[in-house]
Amino acid sequence: MTETLGFCQEMRPESCGFILFGATGDLAARKIIPALFGLCEKKLTPRNFYAVLVSRTPLDRGALESRLWDTVLKAGFTPAPEVFSSFLERLEYIQADYESDAFYRRLADRLTALDAKSGVKKKRLFYLATPPAAFEPITSKLKTSGLLSDPTDCTCWSRVIIEKPYGSSLESAASLDAGLKLAAPEAQVYRIDHFTGKETVQNVMALRSANAVFDGTWNNRFVDHVQITVFEELGLEGRAAFFERMGLARDMMSHILQLAAITAMDLPSTFRDTDFKTEKRRFFESIRPLTREEVRRQTVRGQYAGYRSEPGVAPGSAEETFLAFKFLVDNDRWRGVPFYVRAGKKTGSKKTRIDVVYKKPDHGIFTHIDIGYPNVFSFGIQPEERVSFSLISKHPGPKLCFTPRSMGLDYRPEGHEAAGYPTDYERLLIEAMSGDQTLFLSSYEIGFMWQFLAPLLEAWSAAPATEPLHAYADGTPGPAAADELIKKDGRSWIQL
Ligand SMILES: NC(=O)c1ccc[n+]([C@@H]2O[C@H](COP(=O)([O-])OP(=O)(O)OC[C@H]3O[C@@H](n4cnc5c(N)ncnc54)[C@H](OP(=O)(O)O)[C@@H]3O)[C@@H](O)[C@H]2O)c1
Repeated sequence: MTETLGFCQEMRPESCGFILFGATGDLAARKIIPALFGLCEKKLTPRNFYAVLVSRTPLDRGALESRLWDTVLKAGFTPAPEVFSSFLERLEYIQADYESDAFYRRLADRLTALDAKSGVKKKRLFYLATPPAAFEPITSKLKTSGLLSDPTDCTCWSRVIIEKPYGSSLESAASLDAGLKLAAPEAQVYRIDHFTGKETVQNVMALRSANAVFDGTWNNRFVDHVQITVFEELGLEGRAAFFERMGLARDMMSHILQLAAITAMDLPSTFRDTDFKTEKRRFFESIRPLTREEVRRQTVRGQYAGYRSEPGVAPGSAEETFLAFKFLVDNDRWRGVPFYVRAGKKTGSKKTRIDVVYKKPDHGIFTHIDIGYPNVFSFGIQPEERVSFSLISKHPGPKLCFTPRSMGLDYRPEGHEAAGYPTDYERLLIEAMSGDQTLFLSSYEIGFMWQFLAPLLEAWSAAPATEPLHAYADGTPGPAAADELIKKDGRSWIQL
């Protein structure tokens, strides 16, 4: 077991009921139900806890249990019979009619009975895993039926989790947000971006906080530029309908901005959610918006060659599956340091990483010799969970020659320790049950994301002729134009 030092903050989920709407859907099956089971298996659920699965599909107890068993197996668990039984004991299913007041009354009665049986004091976490169009109507009915508690009442709580996409444009996101706010104040809304729940993402903040080497050099005196890469090996995975409406920029921008923030925001004075969000907001406020002209010069859209032959994709589809862009941050720490981003589908391998590239040496014997960028801090987010630092050392031997080397820290715990390690969704559920919003996105962050995207989307739709969609071969790291984007600044993408 790895030793821990000094500070050790533990999130303690409060006893509560968990109510999952859209329980028969894809997200529920792939992420939420496995996370619930994982928490039970790892004994990370609160002591007093129950879950109610809600959907419109009729399901009797037998059908529910066999469906849950298949879901858990498909997620990669090999459940011990007693663990699976205890999971089932804490869980029930209610068929929904989201428009009917009678349904919400029935749900309220059931939750009251389950609270009494399980020793829960009206503390409820609602997860809306339905299509986004249902978020506002369901939240509003929860409110009018008395299922959302008064936020000033400290004897009970209600929290509502929602998932991206938070709208499809600045206007639709604002309208969704306004609708939600009528029913639930900001403190009750937990917006998920599952990247923030990843152990490796949190490790970036931990490393930055605890190691003076980062704080001292994490600025424009030492750093030349930053690269963020979010590559997927796969294509659409059956989500053509979603992707044809959204495209990659809308789908990925939230992840990209969250990665940029944890890399570059000033460190909060505490890890309390309010302090964290304040610093994150200050970082976003200092990102320079792209003008129409900059969109033309500083962004590259691409589409993989086989995209238009995917089932469900229109033959002439102009949705991008790749995006590269450069942005600048106007604050004292980062002024003049470009941030280069590339994200895409079918780009060869699954790889999410952040590379902080330090300046080249420009003194002594290196005044006239270009040895490239010797020092790069690389944070592997997924699938590789590794931090590495590249540097130049002396080549062993009789001559004085230099050679590139790298130091690495593998981050994934092993064996017994790994078994208790929560996944991203498990962690996010724990945090929501603890009432900590640090890892969830604020209404401001969603608004900022759409404001940042708006000039890109406008330019691409208004002038398709001058904003070309560059083709790239399936399995390659994007179009040649993406290489040009960084090359014209005298830099190149990090080799993956
Ligand atoms: N799937 C993913 O990987 C993924 C990733 C990121 C974000 N999300 C977001 O997570 C949410 C759920 O995604 P999903 O892929 O699971 O969606 P989904 O499969 O399309 O829908 C989930 C469930 O919602 C119910 N439903 C369908 N239409 C509804 C409506 N008009 N009103 C109320 N309920 C309705 C259906 O269950 P019943 O018919 O049984 O009620 C369905 O099984 C969405 O907001 C999505 O954008 C999903």
